[in-house]
Amino acid sequence: MKRLVVMASGNGSNLQAIIDACAEGRIPAVVTAVVSDNSDAFALRRADAAGIPAVHIGRRPGESRADYDARLADLVSGFDPDWVVLAGWMRLLTMNFLGWFPGMVVNLHPALPGELPGTHAIERAFDESRSGTRTSSGVMVHLVADEGVDDGPVLATAAVPILATDTVDDFETRMHTAEHALLVSVLHALCSQIHPITHGATA
Ligand code: GRF
Repeated sequence: MKRLVVMASGNGSNLQAIIDACAEGRIPAVVTAVVSDNSDAFALRRADAAGIPAVHIGRRPGESRADYDARLADLVSGFDPDWVVLAGWMRLLTMNFLGWFPGMVVNLHPALPGELPGTHAIERAFDESRSGTRTSSGVMVHLVADEGVDDGPVLATAAVPILATDTVDDFETRMHTAEHALLVSVLHALCSQIHPITHGATA
C-alpha cells in the first residue's frame, strides 16, 4: 500500500473523496496524515473522524515563507509519503518544501492547463461564461515541480460544461464532482504504478 499525505486548507471534500476511495479499495493507499495551515479547516475534522492523524501547522508571526516551508517539509516527511497530495491547499509552496519531494507532489486545480491560475478559478470561469467569452471550463491534476502557480506536468484533465441555466452554485457543484472523480482516478493510477509518470518525472 502506498502512503499519502494530504494537505488541505479548507472544507476537504476532495480529501473525503480520497479517504472514501482508500477505504473502499479504489485507491491502493493509506492516508498517513492530513496537514493543514488553517486550524479551522473542516478537513482536519474529516481526518479526525476517519482516525487519521490531523496536524495543524500555522505560520508563526514574522516567520519567513522559506522557514515555514522547511518546517512543513520536516513535518510531512516524518509521515514518509509516497505521494504528497495538495487537495485545496491554498498556500504557495517554495522550493524549501518542494525540493524535499521531487516528482512526488500532486496538485488539483479547478481549471484546465494554462487557464485561470490562482484563487477563485470557478467563479472567474463562471463570470467569463456570463460575459460570453467561455462556455466550459474543467479541472486538472498535475505534478508540482517548481514555484509556478497551478502549473506543472499535467497528469489528467476533465472538461466541465457551463450551462446557460446554471447558477454559480450549480456550476461549482459540477466542478467539485469532476474534481473528486479525477483526483481519485489519478491517485488510483499513481498508487497502482500504472501511470506513465513516475517519481522524478518533470517533463
Ligand atoms: C477545490 O476546488 C480545489 O481545486 C481548490 O480548492 C477547492 C478545495 O475544495 N484548490 P475542498 O476543500 O476539497 O472541498
